[in-house]
Amino acid sequence: MNTSEPITFVILGASGDLARRKVIPAFFALYCQDKLPPEFRVVGFGRSELTDEAFRQRVMEHLACRYSLGPDCARREAEYLARCFFVTGSYDSRDAYLDLYTRLREIEPPGAAVNRVFYMAIPPDAFLDVSHGLGDAALIACDDGGGWTRVVVEKPFGRDRASSDALVRGMSQIFSEAQTYRIDHYLGKELVQDLMVLRFANAVFEPLWNARHIERVSVLWRETDTLAGRAGYFDRYGILRDVVQNHLLQIVALAAMEPPSGLNPVAVHAAKAQLLRSIQPLAEDDLVLGQYAGGTRGNLRVAGYREEAGVPADSCTPTFAAGVLTIDNERWRGVPFFLLAGKGAARSVNELRIQFRRPAADLFGTAAAGLPANELVVRIQPDEAIGLRVLNKTPGLAMKLQTGDLNLSYSEAYPQVVPEAYERLLLDVIAGEHGLFICADELAASWDVVTPVLHAMEESPHPPEAYALGGDGPASTAALAARWGFPWPPPG
Ligand SMILES: NC(=O)c1ccc[n+]([C@@H]2O[C@H](COP(=O)([O-])OP(=O)(O)OC[C@H]3O[C@@H](n4cnc5c(N)ncnc54)[C@H](OP(=O)(O)O)[C@@H]3O)[C@@H](O)[C@H]2O)c1
Repeated sequence: MNTSEPITFVILGASGDLARRKVIPAFFALYCQDKLPPEFRVVGFGRSELTDEAFRQRVMEHLACRYSLGPDCARREAEYLARCFFVTGSYDSRDAYLDLYTRLREIEPPGAAVNRVFYMAIPPDAFLDVSHGLGDAALIACDDGGGWTRVVVEKPFGRDRASSDALVRGMSQIFSEAQTYRIDHYLGKELVQDLMVLRFANAVFEPLWNARHIERVSVLWRETDTLAGRAGYFDRYGILRDVVQNHLLQIVALAAMEPPSGLNPVAVHAAKAQLLRSIQPLAEDDLVLGQYAGGTRGNLRVAGYREEAGVPADSCTPTFAAGVLTIDNERWRGVPFFLLAGKGAARSVNELRIQFRRPAADLFGTAAAGLPANELVVRIQPDEAIGLRVLNKTPGLAMKLQTGDLNLSYSEAYPQVVPEAYERLLLDVIAGEHGLFICADELAASWDVVTPVLHAMEESPHPPEAYALGGDGPASTAALAARWGFPWPPPG
């Protein structure tokens, strides 16, 4: 594509949390790195009654100069804000999209082909209304040389397999698959991208990457946040839809897929989709669901999930899920994958842990007895790092063994700023690169893993097990972990 052509970024739901905290600052970061064309605009759209000036003030609150320092920062901010506009309108009103059309024509350079990215930073139930509104107002170009149109949709994409399929079908009436970018921002994280490099650019891992040498795999996602004001959204979706179906299964797909035939998006999507289709649906017996109880942090009382504003007092929505998955293919048969996602944890951390088996020959006998086997840890956030636990000889005259860590800490090894996931992904949208987005096949296969259990929960709802704020999760997770041979509480 020609990166010098004008681009308009239209953010639907621009008054919301995601747009203000992540999307608009990411465009700013790209601007500061001179990655945007000279003619670009950021246009917010939503029901909020905001003037351009009021919108700019809100935008300003979240801009961070990670790439432009000192006086250059203030100049960049002023230039960026001058290109921000807001159009007020309701998502199901035809007139609102005509207003948007008129406003775009006013602010876009006349006579030039304009490329447009529509970013849906809105609750998923509004995706279809918005798509139809944009289509009916002739806001979508058909890639006929007069400028292109792309749409970015946020997760969760649907509520289960059937609703996701319906959404794919509905949106495909307006946007082609090539125009659609289903974002899972985990795919833009540095260490998630590094998984492919680690596996396929290093001869030392791939030969061992199978059930013969790997005993178990954990994908752990914990965050200290409770609801952070997002009760309306979260209570309708819950942790399985918010984190497991997308972020965690995407990490599993990249960690466990067969080597793709190439690095192109088609090959990588095919390898991931094939792996996701081999995962056995999550079984109720292998799943523990929890809800955080009220507690204290420092001297502050923190509300329990059911006490949060906007959450019904009898809500059965889980804020914690721990489940064990198995993969029915040659490479992974017999290796359990432990997935854990929990809010209200003692600290925020997201890791992939690959636990290797012990060597077949017990050459060191009692000297190695009781020591843990090798483990590869990929810490996705915070403090990105890759660590490998090895057994080594304790220095001295005796043959005594101990465990040590080979540790690659990104903050120590690399001085450069690690880009935010949204920066990388938005740059790919501009470039027309689909590799880090979710294709329809992957989406369907990942919903198949969780849909049966989601339906079972809805058919006979029962309260998830309470767990202490700042703790490890519900007490019965220990039994699940023990049954499948995982340590509890999990390390890290
Ligand atoms: N926040 C995050 O960190 C995050 C992370 C990953 C994915 N997501 C996804 O990104 C999308 C937006 O997330 P968000 O956290 O920014 O959501 P949000 O703050 O709840 O909503 C974004 C905006 O959507 C508009 N809106 C339209 N219909 C609405 C409704 N029924 N209820 C509330 N707001 C409505 C509102 O703007 P107006 O009132 O001005 O119309 C609101 O400011 C969602 O699909 C979410 O799942 C969010």
